Amino acid sequence: MTVTPKGFAGELRTSPVSHATITGIGGYRPKRVVPNSEIVERIDSSDEWVRERSGIIERRFAGEGESVVDMSVFATEPALAMAGIEAGQLDAVIVATVSWPYQTPAAAPMIAERLGSKAAAFDISAACAGYCHAVSLATDMVRAGTAQHVLVVGVERLSDFTSPDDRGTAFIFADGAGAAVVSRSESPGIGPTVWGSDGAQWEAISQTESWIDVHEKNLGWPHIGMAGQTVFRWAVWGMAPVARKAMDAAGVTVDQLDAFIPHQANVRIVDAMAKQLGLPADLPIARDIAYTGNTSAASIPLAMERMVRHGEIPSGGLALQIGFGAGLSYAAQVVVIP
Ligand code: COA
Repeated sequence: MTVTPKGFAGELRTSPVSHATITGIGGYRPKRVVPNSEIVERIDSSDEWVRERSGIIERRFAGEGESVVDMSVFATEPALAMAGIEAGQLDAVIVATVSWPYQTPAAAPMIAERLGSKAAAFDISAACAGYCHAVSLATDMVRAGTAQHVLVVGVERLSDFTSPDDRGTAFIFADGAGAAVVSRSESPGIGPTVWGSDGAQWEAISQTESWIDVHEKNLGWPHIGMAGQTVFRWAVWGMAPVARKAMDAAGVTVDQLDAFIPHQANVRIVDAMAKQLGLPADLPIARDIAYTGNTSAASIPLAMERMVRHGEIPSGGLALQIGFGAGLSYAAQVVVIP
C-alpha cells in the first residue's frame, strides 16, 4: 500500500532568526576552602609540587548535603539579576554536569523548580567542555526562536567522584557552579562554536568502572580516573588550533580580544595555550584555578564571573572561551562579555 501526503501547499511557519548574547553571569563557590596541605599527605605529594605542576593553591569542596542543585540555584540567582529577568521568563534550562548522582531524572528540572520556573529543562554530559556545548545549544535555540531566554549552568560536585588516594586527580578536581543567561539580542553576542570529539581517547579521562560493574562486582563507589600525560599533551597541542578556528569563525584576531577564558584544567595548560596563540602580554587571562581548582563544567563561567566582578574585563568586550576534557570533547566560541 502506498500512502500519500495530504499536500500542504504552504511553508511551515517558523520563528524569524535573531541574535543571541550573554546577558547575565553568576557563580557560586562553596564556603569550605581546602588548601593543598589537606590533600597532599594521602598522595605522598607536597604543596610545592601541586602548585608547580597545576597552579592550584586551594580549592573549594561543597559542604555536607550541599548538592549540585543547591550550588546551581546559588549561581543562578545573581545571573538572573544581572540579566534583569525573573526565573519565570526562562524558556529553557540546560545543565552541564558529570557529577549529578542520579542516572535519571536530570538535575535541570529540579533546579528549574527551585528557581520557580516550569521551563524545558535537561542536562548534558560533555565534561569540562560541557559549558561551551551548552552555550552553543542555547545560542542556537535563541537564534532559531525556540527560546528567548535560556539558563546555562555548569556545575560539579567532583569531590564525590574523586579518590583522595589517586595521585593523578586528588589535587585537581573541585566543586562549584557557574551560570549564564543567554538571551535574544539586537546584535550578535556569541560567535560560531567550533567543537568536536576524539572518541579514540575515550578512556583518557573516565569513571573507573561502569555502574553495571560497580553493581555486579560489588566494587564500591567509582571515581574519575585520568591518564594525566595523555590529556596534557592533547590539551596543549590540540586545543590552541581549535581556539584559533573559533576566532577565525567569529572574524576576530588576538589583538581584538579583551579576555582569554579557557577551561581551568591546569595552569600549565593555560599558559602553553596562551603562548601558542600568541596572545598579547597584557591580555587578561583567567587563572581562577589557583583558588578554585578544576571544577570541570563550572570552571569557565566561574572564571568569567570573577573577572567581571573584579572589573578585570570590560562589559561589551570580547572573550575567547574554550572547554575541553573527557570524551575527549571540546568546544570554543568568542562571546561578548556581559
Ligand atoms: N605528587 C608528587 N609527585 C607526583 C604526583 C603527585 N601528586 N603525581 C605524580 N608524581 C611524580 C611521579 O611519581 C613521577 O616521579 P618520577 O619521575 O620520580 O617517577 C613524576 O611525578 C612524573 O609523574 P607523571 O605521572 O608523569 O606526572 P606528570 O608530570 O604527568 O604530572 C599531572 C601529573 C596530573 C600534573 C599532569 O599529567 C597534568 O597536569 N595533566 C593534565 C591534567 C589535567 O589538566 N586534567 C584536567 C583535564 S580536564
